[in-house]
Amino acid sequence: MNPGRFITLEGGEGVGKSTNLQYIQQLLQQRQLEVVVTREPGGTELAEKIRQLLLEKHAETITENAELLLVFAARAQHIQRVILPALQQGRWVLCDRFTDATYAYQGGGRNMDENVIGWLENTVQGDLRPDLTLLLDAPLDVGMSRAQQRGKLDRFESEQRDFFERVRQAYLNRAGQDQQRYKIIDASLPLNQVQQQIKQALDGLSVV
Ligand code: TMP
Repeated sequence: MNPGRFITLEGGEGVGKSTNLQYIQQLLQQRQLEVVVTREPGGTELAEKIRQLLLEKHAETITENAELLLVFAARAQHIQRVILPALQQGRWVLCDRFTDATYAYQGGGRNMDENVIGWLENTVQGDLRPDLTLLLDAPLDVGMSRAQQRGKLDRFESEQRDFFERVRQAYLNRAGQDQQRYKIIDASLPLNQVQQQIKQALDGLSVV
């Protein structure tokens, strides 16, 4: 059995991840591939509980180290229980956010040490890395207004504008360093043009 492929979708707030995740799922299924769609933080019962802890606002402030470790605790469960078993069975895994989000939000947004993130990445993931990462990129104003229209803001969405500027920049920096793995999608364009770019990126993956 050929191991499946691991595709991740990334981007800041309100860039259209949910709509495009469904589109990617359809594209893969049209090609008769078995697809497991999942998300981070989350994807298992325990990891979804950790997600709640991370997204809810608490009277007690979560320290940056606690936040980082919670993200990787959820990821450790998700990888062992869902991602690796699926890939080993030849399924394709489509994940809404993965470790690039940690480099962007904790590394960029919170200015945490990338070496610490890298150490956790190696420890928790071994050599598991996405085969393809689609980065939905849009100027901040586009995404922020969409996120605000969705109603009550979670703990991350309540951050200040400069936090999200750093998140966006961190994503773009990472994407610029590995153009094989990342495809930057201009998410400020009309939906049909966004999806055209996504389709092209997937066509570039040999097995699709
Ligand atoms: P979302 O998946 O609905 O966008 O919400 C997840 C939030 O969690 C989002 O604001 C980004 C944040 N996050 C991190 O800060 N670090 C991570 O490693 C991941 C996966 C998500």
